[in-house]
Amino acid sequence: MGKKTGKMFKRILYGGDYNPNQWPREIWEEDMRIFRKAHINSASINIFSWAKIQPSEETYYFDELDDIVEMLSKEGYDIVMATSTAALPAWMVKRYPEVTRTDYYGRKHKFGQRHNACPNSLVYQKYAKALAEELAKRYGKNKNIVCWHVNNEYGGECYCENCEKAFRVWLRKKYKTIEALNKAWNMEFWGHTIYDWDEIVLPNALSEGIGEDKTAFAGISIDYRRFNSDSLLENFKMERDAIRKYDPDTPITNNLMGTYKGLDYFKWAKEMDIVSWDNYPAYDTPWSMTAMRHDLMRGLKGQPFMLMEQTPSQQNWQPYNSLKRPGQMRAQSYQTIAHGSDTIQFFQLRRSVGACEKFHGAVIAHVGHENTRVFREVAQLGKELKELDCILGSDNPSKVGIIFDWDNCWALEYTSGPHKDLKYVDQIHSYYRYFYDKNIPVDMIPIDADFSKYDVVVAPVLYMVKEGVGEALEEYVKKGGTLVTSFMSGIVDQSDNVHLGGYPGPLRRMAGIWVEEIDALAPEQHNTVVFTDGSEYTCRMLCDLMHLEGAESLANYSSDFYAGTPVVTRNEFGKGRVYYIGTELEDRALDKVLDQVTAEANVSSVIDEPTKLEVTYRESEKERLYFIINFVKDEQPLPKCFVGKRDLLSGDELGDDTILKQYDVILVSIPK
Ligand code: GLA
Ligand code: ZN
Repeated sequence: MGKKTGKMFKRILYGGDYNPNQWPREIWEEDMRIFRKAHINSASINIFSWAKIQPSEETYYFDELDDIVEMLSKEGYDIVMATSTAALPAWMVKRYPEVTRTDYYGRKHKFGQRHNACPNSLVYQKYAKALAEELAKRYGKNKNIVCWHVNNEYGGECYCENCEKAFRVWLRKKYKTIEALNKAWNMEFWGHTIYDWDEIVLPNALSEGIGEDKTAFAGISIDYRRFNSDSLLENFKMERDAIRKYDPDTPITNNLMGTYKGLDYFKWAKEMDIVSWDNYPAYDTPWSMTAMRHDLMRGLKGQPFMLMEQTPSQQNWQPYNSLKRPGQMRAQSYQTIAHGSDTIQFFQLRRSVGACEKFHGAVIAHVGHENTRVFREVAQLGKELKELDCILGSDNPSKVGIIFDWDNCWALEYTSGPHKDLKYVDQIHSYYRYFYDKNIPVDMIPIDADFSKYDVVVAPVLYMVKEGVGEALEEYVKKGGTLVTSFMSGIVDQSDNVHLGGYPGPLRRMAGIWVEEIDALAPEQHNTVVFTDGSEYTCRMLCDLMHLEGAESLANYSSDFYAGTPVVTRNEFGKGRVYYIGTELEDRALDKVLDQVTAEANVSSVIDEPTKLEVTYRESEKERLYFIINFVKDEQPLPKCFVGKRDLLSGDELGDDTILKQYDVILVSIPK
């Protein structure tokens, strides 16, 4: 495997997707001149060039790519070399129609788009592998190539006959016998019992699917998602191994998409040398959501990651592609580094002349020169980042772990009832938001993490409790840990069958409660909760009706027929405790519960004073580097603890009267 240290690169990579192949050669020189002015030191190339570098089944053509690599190498660039396998060449589709995908509605696709290959097509696999191998043979020894970028944003699904056959093989390996499979999927229901493996069909709109995102049998649908994630992962591993034959060291990645639902990224990250991802917040995405996604990407390997893509200004594919306001791209970039990134890369370096991304922002705009607002901001950031290599490989220490589990996400969102608006990422984010607002660092952790590293483990809507998870959490709490969980937890096993004997199943004993019923409230309805100190708040969505079995109640409902019954509880268990929140609380109420949790567990903010600024630090052996960023509209005073220190970016000494306007950033180093 590749380099395995915390520090993958010798400098902060600053650059991004670069497609000179789409432009006449005269432009290339001009690109180099302009990029130099922005301190760009890196380019990701060859991302969608399959049709160019393999114009037919029998021929490769590398002359142009050779020239691009040579030009960038001469300029001293750190090159991120992609393998081009994310968009099929037309000749392949014409000759081998099996390489395209069949969609959820059973429609076999023709040539077009990208991310369009059937992962289980042997023809696709053969040519993708061969191409990766050719590239590695040719460029694997080039010292300027610092990273391999396999494919691009793996994702989507295929429901073709090849995939169906591969699914049966995958299931056979997992279940061994038809009986075990029937049991796991509860196939006695509606008489769906299967007697032969080849009776199994893929769960889509033509079979078990209900609408776009529900299913009659979650067991098969969740298994299909696992299978599809594994199929694409096999594609990644195949190219990775092909590259490894010729290049033993250079890190290999593929660009992930944050909280993208389709792939189990924790499983993927185990196969990647370094995680990279593409960050495209919408105009109204809360900054806490972006921070959470960064923390998740860092959490995948517990290591710094790469920001493979962000736009310098606007996107083209959102419904409303607003410009980044002056300073916003810079602030977003520092937030990215603050949460663990060691690179800042853009999509893209020069704006396309045609096709669907011509309105997507780029470092060089259609006007073709560097006298633009966006370019000036890119150049300023480039200049600043040159001085920040000390950040590379440093840590983000955290005492709070929030569990994120793709299996659980799939199961929770497939389930029919009790509430259609229940969305996994939003629920996790509502808890993350508390820690973000308080500037308490968080690790996003997998369900099989070593919980003992954390003072507090937060696991909202932990609907699916797989084998061994209940025991591991009990062990953690017994030894003194604090677990926070919520409604819709402990309900099903890995196949979406209910843990019988009362909710929340395997969590019931340590939570010291029994949930007898779950009420669902329509969007226009709400209930109220009253805490023991008399304070009253609103709650929505789902309301657990529960009995105390040793836990104390921190708050009760105050209306409807279950008024006076407990809704928020705390239970001592071993040396630790479990908090259970039986409804969707309004933010202020959740803050109140989590204030108690953090105070009791002695988990504190990175600074002592309350502030609306985002304050984070990364830590190396020598120092703590604080990132102080203002994402709110109004000016904010600098926290007192930084007065008298120097801002690394401006060089200014920070005073009592220092304020941060929206998108201002201050960096302070505190030696250890
Ligand atoms: C994705 C892709 C890029 C580009 C950008 C546009 O992240 O990886 O090729 O299409 O979106 O935002
Ligand atoms: Zn397929």
